[in-house]
Amino acid sequence: MLKLKSIIKSFNDGESNLEVLRGVSLELVAGESLALLGASGNGKSTLLQIAAGLETPDAGEVLILGRSLATLGERELAQLRRRHLGFVFQQFNLLPGLNVNDNLLFQRRLNQQSDHDDWTDEIIDVLRLAPLLHRPVEVLSSGQQQRVAIARALAHKPKVLFADEPTGNLHDSLSHQVMTLMVKLVAESACSLLLVTHNLEMASFANRRLLLEDGQLHKVV
Ligand SMILES: Nc1ncnc2c1ncn2[C@@H]1O[C@H](COP(=O)(O)OP(=O)(O)OP(=O)(O)O)[C@@H](O)[C@H]1O
Ligand SMILES: [Mg+2]
Repeated sequence: MLKLKSIIKSFNDGESNLEVLRGVSLELVAGESLALLGASGNGKSTLLQIAAGLETPDAGEVLILGRSLATLGERELAQLRRRHLGFVFQQFNLLPGLNVNDNLLFQRRLNQQSDHDDWTDEIIDVLRLAPLLHRPVEVLSSGQQQRVAIARALAHKPKVLFADEPTGNLHDSLSHQVMTLMVKLVAESACSLLLVTHNLEMASFANRRLLLEDGQLHKVV
């Protein structure tokens, strides 16, 4: 489903070169979830962005559903992302000018999926979005925005789901319900989940845990 081979990434600000990823490899099969732990600034979001084709690595290869991202054109990559990937961004990245409902259904509509089915009903229910559906996303609190961001990433039933600190602004019991919902998607639609969290309890929902440190992945003992 998702394969990263020897990913290398540095950022250069003109004065210094920051090596963020120094040869990161991982594989996620269908129905598997992986939690990525690591201190702030260790490159977790960078790794997620590269894995989702939103950022290009300096070296190494990313394969999603057996296709090497470097071989895809802009259009093919956009299509792959739209149909098969879901992304919960750390900064939410909701679509301004649209209300909660239109944000939630955005990818489903692009994919010509129906507006509502049992899955969207369940997402709206678990994330308590019913009272918010017609509100513009600009006026929402950060916890509300986070719930919409999670709903939007899940609604089209992606094959690979990337979630960057998805429960950071949510209280404990809602965090548990959100993780349960994600794990359900993973199990029921043989999706793969790459989850970034610094919360060990949230990480325990995943099948595996790895620590990103010094640009490399380490087993969590
Ligand atoms: N576009 C960029 N240009 C320059 N430096 C960047 C860029 N993106 C990330 N960095 C740097 O790369 C390092 C890793 O950033 P990243 O956002 O991946 O960390 P993170 O592990 O997600 O941290 P956090 O837990 O705080 O979200 C940081 O030092 C950051 O400043
Ligand atoms: Mg981050």
